[in-house]
Amino acid sequence: MVTAYDYPSATHVDAAGVDVLLVGDSAAMIVHGHDTTLPVTLDEMLLHCRSVARGARAPLLVGDLPFGSYEASPRQAVESAVRLLKEGGMDSVKLEGGGGARVAAAKAVVGAGVAVMGHVGLMPQAISVLGGFRPQGTSASSAVRVLREALALRDAGCFAVVLECVPAALAAAITEALRPSGVPTIGIGAGPHTSGQVLVYHDLLGMMAHPHYRQVTPKFCKKFAQIGEQVQNALSDYCDEVRSGSFPSALHTPYQLDERATEELSKALRAEGEVGAAEAAERVFEEKKKRT
Ligand code: KIV
Repeated sequence: MVTAYDYPSATHVDAAGVDVLLVGDSAAMIVHGHDTTLPVTLDEMLLHCRSVARGARAPLLVGDLPFGSYEASPRQAVESAVRLLKEGGMDSVKLEGGGGARVAAAKAVVGAGVAVMGHVGLMPQAISVLGGFRPQGTSASSAVRVLREALALRDAGCFAVVLECVPAALAAAITEALRPSGVPTIGIGAGPHTSGQVLVYHDLLGMMAHPHYRQVTPKFCKKFAQIGEQVQNALSDYCDEVRSGSFPSALHTPYQLDERATEELSKALRAEGEVGAAEAAERVFEEKKKRT
């Protein structure tokens, strides 16, 4: 699984043959520049979902339910989930948390006919109660809690469960516990013993420029490319060439007036008293003629 937030990223993810595409609420940080995932709204997520749905045909599309769109009641969860499918073009939704209220929400959404992916371990929407972006399940008691949450989500009818920032042994245990029910785990910062993996598009491409990530690059994230550096170099080269006048060269100047049109333009400009403008048009024509 890989995240995407717009049409071009969706087309790349699709062309790479990725099985599952997540329109993550990480959009809040990655695309909108917030410090957390909390501010992104359901309407903003819907805009991302629609753009992604136009660009990706083959992957299963999962839309993240953003903070504030499903916690109040199972009914609110159903209404928000239905919007992600109806208006956002998603195939399924993801929600964070495996406590009682979240399990009830997941059950209600599944009951309404919407496939739900669960998410336990580090839940970025819960940093207010977790005390920050911290790994979870790092003691025996908290590991058992995370395992129970994953099992509860399975029982609620979730078709898959994301495990974020948990020790590899715990991820392996949860994956094993869910195996008989056919519910796969998808790990991020959870080691290799999960059914699948997920990374954030910009992170894996080395595009991340968010100040938070500059300070705290996730330890689990492998950069499969350095696209950010290439983007930066390309933009600097563009600025240099425009400033020095070397861009656009003749190669990138496709539209020309022929001799007759230049003469007529020059005549019309002179008739309007625009002598300088007429001379400029003539000069460009002469320069082009010399080059060919
Ligand atoms: O929003 C997101 O990108 C996510 C993934 C990190 C799983 O939830």
